Amino acid sequence: MTQIAVLPGDGIGPEVTAAAVRVLRAVLPSCSFVEAPVGAAAIASHGTPLPEETLAAARASDAILFGAVGGPGFDDRAPALRPEAAILGLRKIFGLYANIRPARAFAGLEACSPLRAERVRGMDLIIVRELTGGLYFGPKSLEPEDGVMTARDTLVYRDFEIERVARFAFTVARGRRKHLTSVDKNNVMISSQLWRRVVSAVAFDYPDVTLEHMLADNAAMQLVRDPRAFDVVVTENMFGDILSDEAAMIAGTIGTASSASLGADPQTPSFGLYEPISGTAPDIAGKNVANPAAAILSAALLARFSLGDEAAAARIEAAVAHVLEHGPRTADLQAAGDAPAATTTAVADAIVAQLTPLAASSARG
Ligand code: IPM
Ligand code: MG
Repeated sequence: MTQIAVLPGDGIGPEVTAAAVRVLRAVLPSCSFVEAPVGAAAIASHGTPLPEETLAAARASDAILFGAVGGPGFDDRAPALRPEAAILGLRKIFGLYANIRPARAFAGLEACSPLRAERVRGMDLIIVRELTGGLYFGPKSLEPEDGVMTARDTLVYRDFEIERVARFAFTVARGRRKHLTSVDKNNVMISSQLWRRVVSAVAFDYPDVTLEHMLADNAAMQLVRDPRAFDVVVTENMFGDILSDEAAMIAGTIGTASSASLGADPQTPSFGLYEPISGTAPDIAGKNVANPAAAILSAALLARFSLGDEAAAARIEAAVAHVLEHGPRTADLQAAGDAPAATTTAVADAIVAQLTPLAASSARG
């Protein structure tokens, strides 16, 4: 039987994850769920951001549905003792090297984008962020050197790490508009020179996909200038972290930004971790106002990439798209003069209600 590990974490994590679990229960009634603590919540209950029992629950499951981690009061802690160590640890331990981050302008949300509607309408891109290497995982240090306090983060890439995420991204591009933009900082960084060389070599195996190289600073600019020009983007861990927040906001809100983290070919169902990319959003946490769409769309990706259930994924995505277009809407999607914003639970109710007719007909049939 299919089991999903639910790791709600901190901030808005528990609220939006609960909404995603409701949707999964409606679409996949035979699925079971096991909840476990992560992040600041786990530091409070277990003294560590990623307790052994949480890892065990994840290992015993087919996929992880993840909320968010982080919180106040940890700023001076060493990285390994912060809530964020939980998500970085899960990615590393399960070898989830490829992170799919779609950014799509949903119909009806054009007015939410900081760009004019005609620039954003039709935007539909995927950022494939390398997730277990690069700047976030290289050796770190903070110590006096020659009497000067010195901090180091190290950007390390091995050729095979670049090659596997490049193959992953070419495969994703092959299933779409066959255009891949590889983002690096080849003019400054030696790691980017290797990145560009390896991606260019992999391209020979995907002659049907057009490959373009772009410097990271230029990519940040081109994304705002013409987001519709992008199809699939592949890039280093930190560049992907930054560009995916930018792309989400251009699409209208980070409240619809879902993600899938995988460790194998995207065409074969495999273990993965699914999370909204927004983080904990402490300013709105616990108020039942966060947009649950990103978590629910992440659940759709879970059905697609870990369960191989394309029909379930498509049903969830259609229900979310319908509610985003017709409402109810959370505050992040409200324009001045709109009806009062809906709560997280009201939006989740509406999405579940959109699923129901299909569920009923398939139960009859
Ligand atoms: C993300 C987040 C995480 C990251 C943090 C919480 C460690 O920003 O998933 O984008 O940097 O990867
Ligand atoms: Mg981020």
